[in-house]
Amino acid sequence: MFYLCCFFNTNNVFFNQNAAYANIMFDALLKKYPFSPRSLHGKAKALDVLAEEKQSNELLLQSLGYYLRALKAPEVPDQLFVTIAERYINRARFIGQYKKAIAVHWQLIERFPANATYLNNLAVTYLTINSVEAARSVLRKVLLKWPDDGFALVHYGFILKTTDNDLANSVNYMTRGLQTKCLGCIDGRFYFHLGDALARLNRNDEAIKLYEEGVKEKVFMSKFQRSLYNMERLTAKPWWEPKDLPSYQNLFSALKKNYLQIKQEGLAALNDKGFFQDEAENLKDTGTWKQLELFARGQKFPKNCAKTPVTCGIIQKYTEASGCRRGQSKFSVMHPGTHVWPHCGPTNCRLRIHLGLKVPPETAIRVAEETRSWVESDIIIFDDSFEHEVWHNGSDFRLVLIVDVWHPDLTPREREILSSI
Ligand code: OGA
Ligand code: MN
Repeated sequence: MFYLCCFFNTNNVFFNQNAAYANIMFDALLKKYPFSPRSLHGKAKALDVLAEEKQSNELLLQSLGYYLRALKAPEVPDQLFVTIAERYINRARFIGQYKKAIAVHWQLIERFPANATYLNNLAVTYLTINSVEAARSVLRKVLLKWPDDGFALVHYGFILKTTDNDLANSVNYMTRGLQTKCLGCIDGRFYFHLGDALARLNRNDEAIKLYEEGVKEKVFMSKFQRSLYNMERLTAKPWWEPKDLPSYQNLFSALKKNYLQIKQEGLAALNDKGFFQDEAENLKDTGTWKQLELFARGQKFPKNCAKTPVTCGIIQKYTEASGCRRGQSKFSVMHPGTHVWPHCGPTNCRLRIHLGLKVPPETAIRVAEETRSWVESDIIIFDDSFEHEVWHNGSDFRLVLIVDVWHPDLTPREREILSSI
């Protein structure tokens, strides 16, 4: 009995070293006490640890079954119920069993109706599976009962901004939410979208103040560099010169040397309907801006590359570009009268090369505090994790080739293992 009691108290040390043994011991216990919530929980945890050790979904599913039985056992103390339910939700989400997770979210909500946290957590699960309307309705429920709940306020405001483009209301909700400084509120996504909404409403002073606060809270690297998927230690500056990147010189020469063929391929694709697609990230204020994607996340777009074989062949040859899983390569066409809102890319792990192909006057790009333009047959290089903004006030379209490359400070190993973006 001594050992059995200690399964619970010495907790993870025991489980981690001896999950297989614990698994068997809990079977024995369950024979004797088939409805004991602690024994069911113990069995579930043993399977949970084993599943992780063996990377086995099968074991994880079995574990979920026992967690569920533990939740249904008679007289489960509140604290134990919460521990089990939260682990269940975590693991169910991990293997993509969202329906099961949602059912247990509801068990928590019904058992603890006076606690907004459980409704908020359900909203997060809905958001992770892109069930925005379900998340919205849960958050409405929270805010009806707890109008000052910071977590619900920032999430509701986030939906108003990213789904409805309702800038004014999203600013109200996110501002009030961030003021609470609640645990889940200090998150770059809310600072990012609140600042963006403010800037689009011409409330730039407030946006800058917010970005400075975001730097203090460590959600941004600087007020201009606001990417959310970052590696520390990487040299951070808005504009780069070709000479700053000695290992990429061959790529630069190849792009410049073949500029005319690249341009001709881009123009030919433009003349064929259906290749260039509208920019899809809601970054545009006015005008027309389209792109033809060649590579993204380290993968080639075969149909588009068949249309522009020389261009793709060059990119393919240089793995700093074709293998850049945190970037893209694409043609970008912009028509007169276009303004692209100030925005930041998602990651500091890449640098962005623009090869000028057709560059009329009165086209410009600002990165942080310096504005430049393109030169046909030449390249400019910038770090798009820094705020940048683009204008086309000219009278004919502008065409550039965009090629992302790994940030030069990343090691070969990091280039291999970083997740794709
Ligand atoms: C970018 C950007 C594209 C363009 O390259 O990140 O926002 O076509 N501008 O000027
Ligand atoms: Mn951009």
